[in-house]
Order: sequence, then structure tokens, then C-alpha cells
Amino acid sequence: MTTVSTTTTTTTYTLPAQVDEKYPAVFHHEFRLEQRTDPSYTTTTSATSTPATPHQSSQTPEIRPLSPKTTQSALLLHGVGEQYTLVTDHAIPAISKPEEILVKIQAIGLNPVDWKGPAYNFGLPTLPWINGRDLAGIVVQTNTHDKNSRIRVGDRVLVPSTDYRDIRKAAFQQYAVATHFNAARIPESVCLQESASLGVAFVASVLALGVSLGLDFSGAQRCPGPNLVETVLGLDVEGIPVDIREQCLAAVPREERLRGGEWIAIWGASTTTGYITLQLAKLAGLTVICVADIARHGSRLHHLGADVLVDRQDPERAVDIIRGVTGGKLRYAVDIVGSETATLLERTLDDSVRDDGSRAHLLGLTGLPKVRKSGIVYHTVPIKLFHLSDVVGESMVGWLEALLETGALQLPEIVRREGGLGNVNESLEILRLGSVSGKRIVVDLEE
Ligand SMILES: NC(=O)c1ccc[n+]([C@@H]2O[C@H](COP(=O)([O-])OP(=O)(O)OC[C@H]3O[C@@H](n4cnc5c(N)ncnc54)[C@H](OP(=O)(O)O)[C@@H]3O)[C@@H](O)[C@H]2O)c1
Repeated sequence: MTTVSTTTTTTTYTLPAQVDEKYPAVFHHEFRLEQRTDPSYTTTTSATSTPATPHQSSQTPEIRPLSPKTTQSALLLHGVGEQYTLVTDHAIPAISKPEEILVKIQAIGLNPVDWKGPAYNFGLPTLPWINGRDLAGIVVQTNTHDKNSRIRVGDRVLVPSTDYRDIRKAAFQQYAVATHFNAARIPESVCLQESASLGVAFVASVLALGVSLGLDFSGAQRCPGPNLVETVLGLDVEGIPVDIREQCLAAVPREERLRGGEWIAIWGASTTTGYITLQLAKLAGLTVICVADIARHGSRLHHLGADVLVDRQDPERAVDIIRGVTGGKLRYAVDIVGSETATLLERTLDDSVRDDGSRAHLLGLTGLPKVRKSGIVYHTVPIKLFHLSDVVGESMVGWLEALLETGALQLPEIVRREGGLGNVNESLEILRLGSVSGKRIVVDLEE
């Protein structure tokens, strides 16, 4: 526990405890690529200082007193197949590295993995555990001496919490730790609750198109972005985890990289991830075929620039339509639904190996066909690159800030749910049943 007293008043403010004794925080960082180090950094703080104000820079870590308490409400998952349990005595997580910040969460965006993980026992490092992948809130503490730091106390930020092995970073609690390179500042013009809806979807879309398929965003209309495939090639190979190394470095030969002017098909375009993927693909000059329930989502997808709309109700007909529209020459496709639809999408591709050796490319976010064809390269998304590489993470959140600032990226529609953490179980059940279609459920956290 750390105590900071001010010189202007006699109030003693207590900062979060370092570790929760009941549920120890997991400081599991598999790799940190090109991690920045700060030689003057110390993990414990005992200072006499005036509480920092928003955007105030100082030589000591920016510390804003939270409240006299050290505990918070959180949702704990005790067992597979169970609902989350609300507790009110969970320790507020502590920042422990120079690149870390503490965020007071104001809104949580719900992702399918939030119910699928507990139901099917994946993404749970141990039990009990805290889940939650998308959050937005206010930065209440930073841990840097860098007065030029992009993130300051008082900033409104959205955080895609892909580092699910670190319980401190989970969204289903009142305070969460994040890294500054995984936090995007929310422009004043943008609603905080709406911005809680898109983080993980944005990360998945950018890495799918920009790393797995090699699309260079630097020429994107209205708001140029990063050339991530080149950034990744510049990383220390040994620092990239073995399980994503091939996908990062060797999956798409230079001459086969996805480029403006190419066609791409997206199966599951009405998902939040599809909604973002469509927009990024259009900004980069691609011609996009969207497979979705067109009666429900056609107007919205058309408005976002979809070039061809294909209804998903008759999947065989959808395959025929895509082959017909592209003359059987489609070379790139992304599935965002599952291995069954990925197998359908596979059949829309021209799977011939061309004279130059090039092949078609199929990316699956939720699964891939079981049997592979030699004329197709199969891709997954190296999602952890976002939190393992500060260079990759920062270039992505920097672009996201610009996309939001310029209005080049439209946010998904949301359904706002009141009731705070206590309403997450019910909201996840609504998500699981699919009764909220084409919208992201966002839970407001109470003050
Ligand atoms: N690998 C990763 O790192 C990663 C990252 C992000 C997401 N994902 C995965 O990607 C998937 C989408 O996630 P999300 O958060 O974007 O989903 P979401 O926003 O919750 O998407 C739900 C939508 O999926 C549509 N859908 C359901 N079945 C469909 C089908 N057979 N064909 C076409 N559309 C269908 C539904 O549209 P209707 O209105 O037509 O029913 C519904 O609106 C999830 O499985 C998620 O786990 C993976």
C-alpha cells in the first residue's frame, strides 16, 4: 500500500494496494518487444506532493488520489459454466511498470468472448478470474517521468484489453491497469460510451488486414495509417512469440500483399469486427463484398461503402453470387463467423496457384476449414502483438485517435445498459441469445 500526503492540506490519500492477497494479480508478460525502460523508475512511491491536475507534467510520477479506499467492485468468475459474481472488496489493481496507467472505468463494451470463454472454458488462465475486453474511462494515475507522454491524468481513453492473462487489465472491475500504448484518447466530440464499443474489433481488423494480409494503410483516404507489415518486419524476431511468428513475418509474400484496388469478401460483415473491417478496407481503396443479413443490415453496410451486398440466408447461393460477381477470380477473403462459413468462403476463392507462385488468401477470426487446399494460404490474427509490441500498439492507437478525430471511422451503434457491473450477467445473456443484432452492448458503470 502506498500513501501520499499533500503539502497543501493534511489529507492522507491512500493509493491502491500493490497485490490483492485473495486474488493475486498476475504479472505475466510473455514478451515485451522493444520495451522502453526508465532508469529512474521505482515500483513503490512514497512522496510528498500536490495531487496532479489533468495534463500537468512533473518530475515525479503523476498521481491523482483516487479515494480513501483500496478496494473496488469487480466481477469474479469462480467456475466454468457459471455466471460472474459481484464482489465489493476486490483490491484496486496497482500499476507496476513505467508504461502503465490506471483507468477509472466508466463504460464496458461486451464481446462474444465474455460469455463464450466461461461457457466453453477458454481464455481463463486460472479461477477465480476477472474477464472483460473493452473499456473506456478516465486516466487517474500514470507512472512515467516523461512530460511528453501521450497519455496524461484526466484523459478520457478507450482501451482494448487484449492482454487477458493480466487480471489487472480486465474490464469487469471499477479500475483497470493498461499500458499507455494500448490506450487511445477519446476526442471531445466522441461519446465515451460509444467508444467502449470498438476496441477489440478495431485491433482484430487492423491486424487482420494490416499484418496477416499485409495491407499498407499509409495511403488510406482521409486519414493515413501505419504500414504495420513493414513495422513488424523491423521487430526483433526472437522477441515475437513462436506461435505468431510465421503469421507476423512470413504469411504473405511481398508481391501477394493486399493492395488498394483488390477485391475482398467479408463473411459476417454485420459483426462489430466486420463493420470496422469494411470501413478500413474502403479507406485503403479495396472493393468490398459483404455477406450479412441484408434485410437487417443492408442499409448500414451500403452507407459505409460496401460495393456488393450478399444475403447470408441462402449460403450456397451466396457462394454462387460471389463467384459470379468476381468472375471466379477472388483472391482475398475474411471470415468473422466460424469454420462453417469460412469453408463456404473458401469456395468463393480462385484457388489456382498462378505462374508467379502466388496463391489466394483466407483469414478466419473464429475458425478455418478443417481440410486445407494447396492453392490457398490460411491466416489467423496475431492479436497479442497489440499488447506485446509498444511500437505496434502505439501506432495502432495513434491511428485510432486520428480516425475518431477526423470522423473517418464511424462507431458501431450501441445499446446502453444501466446498472453497472451488477447488470453484466443479464447483458451477456442478451448478447448470447443474439437478440441485439448489429449493435454493441455497452454497460454504464455507476459512479
Ligand atoms: N481471433 C480474435 O482475436 C478475435 C477478435 C475479435 C473477434 N473475434 C471473433 O469474431 C466474431 C465476431 O465478433 P464481434 O465482436 O465482431 O461480433 P458481434 O458484433 O457480437 O457480432 C454479432 C453479429 O454476428 C452476426 N452473425 C451471426 N451469425 C452469422 C452468420 N452465420 N453469418 C453472418 N453473420 C452472422 C449477427 O448478425 P445477424 O443480425 O445477421 O444475426 C450478429 O449481429 C466472434 O466469434 C469473436 O469471438 C475474434
